[in-house]
Amino acid sequence: MEVFDCVRRRRTVREYKPDQIPEELVLKLLQAGRWSPSSSNSQPWHFIAIQDPETIKRLGEIATQGTFMANAPLIMAIVIAADSVRPQLDAGRALQQMELVGWSEGLGTCFVGVRQAEQQKAVKELLGIPEEMELITLMPYGYRVPGARGRGIPRKPMAEIAHRDRFGQPFQE
Ligand SMILES: Cc1cc2nc3c(=O)[nH]c(=O)nc-3n(C[C@H](O)[C@H](O)[C@H](O)COP(=O)(O)O)c2cc1C
Repeated sequence: MEVFDCVRRRRTVREYKPDQIPEELVLKLLQAGRWSPSSSNSQPWHFIAIQDPETIKRLGEIATQGTFMANAPLIMAIVIAADSVRPQLDAGRALQQMELVGWSEGLGTCFVGVRQAEQQKAVKELLGIPEEMELITLMPYGYRVPGARGRGIPRKPMAEIAHRDRFGQPFQE
């Protein structure tokens, strides 16, 4: 799939086919994250590929912002080292690469925030993540259900968010 097509067509997906994701594709997602750029090439990330059904079910119970995760065949936890200078940026670059590569292979995913302190603690305990590390997100992956539509959330008009030469001079399409 052409890169811009992938970027333009990608939607957050919260419904997945039950089919397992082949090992080569799980590895490809990990490679997409691994080859992401990072601040000073620090590569502060850890990715946990979770396919154990009991663990997946439990994660869906803990993360109330993403209960649909319980129906995914794979969850990628993205964890950043405590000494990372720009944890959100580094993680964001990596997870977006993984999401786009996944999309190009027929997969869908959704960023699930684990925002509350007790949820963070419960997920870290379940997955054995050292306490000092930052759990950025849990990303469920599965094959997209044909015909299923995302929420179709539109984007702001170009002229509202893009400027030509100076802030406040709208970039007209
Ligand atoms: C930082 C971030 C946090 C998000 N957290 C959640 C979440 O906890 N649960 C959820 O269902 N979707 C979550 N989303 C998905 C957004 O709702 C979604 O990306 C947005 O509505 C745009 O839709 P689209 O991805 O289909 O273009 C999150 C997205 C981002 C980038």
